[in-house]
Amino acid sequence: MGYQARFRVWRGSAEGGELRDFTAEVNEGEVVLDILHRLQATQCPDLAVRWNCKAGKCGSCSAEVNGRPKLLCMTRMSTFAEDETITVTPMRTFPVLKDLVCDVSYNYVKAREVPAFQPPADLGPGEYRMQQVDVARSQEFRKCIECFLCQDTCHVIRDHEPNKESFSGPRFLMRVAELEMHPLDTAEDRAEQARGDHGLGQCNITRCCTEVCPEHIQITDNALIPLKERVADRRYDPLRWLFRR
Ligand code: SF4
Ligand code: F3S
Ligand code: FES
Repeated sequence: MGYQARFRVWRGSAEGGELRDFTAEVNEGEVVLDILHRLQATQCPDLAVRWNCKAGKCGSCSAEVNGRPKLLCMTRMSTFAEDETITVTPMRTFPVLKDLVCDVSYNYVKAREVPAFQPPADLGPGEYRMQQVDVARSQEFRKCIECFLCQDTCHVIRDHEPNKESFSGPRFLMRVAELEMHPLDTAEDRAEQARGDHGLGQCNITRCCTEVCPEHIQITDNALIPLKERVADRRYDPLRWLFRR
């Protein structure tokens, strides 16, 4: 049976905006994105919302529902009470372009700052050999759909805009960790890059990134903490310390 639900949707642009109230029909099995599409079809045709797959795989429909970072296409209406007002706002960490659509280019800048995988020079395509355990380790990180919900929720940049300069965020620290663990990567000291270039030290292991990841990647336990351990090993190993001096 359908019912009428109350919504508050943020509408505006980089210059400012406000929450607007709507009432919309909800049917069994629908997700928040369905309701936004219904609003577009019936009440506000110019409502901007980014989406693509409607299957939780493209990472486009990231926003905040009742203040929590979510994929709009994977947030079922059945998780809310019928008399609840559901508030939908754009991701807070990135500048708004229009309504629920943000400018996420910070993430592309940070992605470009991670040097690419460098295989040994004498290995040709098809000659790479590695243990299954090493394949499995990075497989988890490769599930990332680049929704940037972890970047949106991390307090280091969510609450402190100037930190964007020095901190690459959990998604790209995870990429550095993946490369650091890769047995065939020959790039110079990824752990040192994580510390110096990507601001790993600013992560204080709050685990909020892991909690919101729709792919359930153990970002903190499997990427960030091991990377911190590698940095500590390298920096505080007495022999390496003597060598550096
Ligand atoms: Fe999204 Fe998870 Fe990838 Fe972060 S790690 S961008 S939350 S899929
Ligand atoms: Fe931020 Fe995740 Fe660390 S939320 S502080 S990157 S554990
Ligand atoms: Fe693709 Fe939501 S529309 S993840």
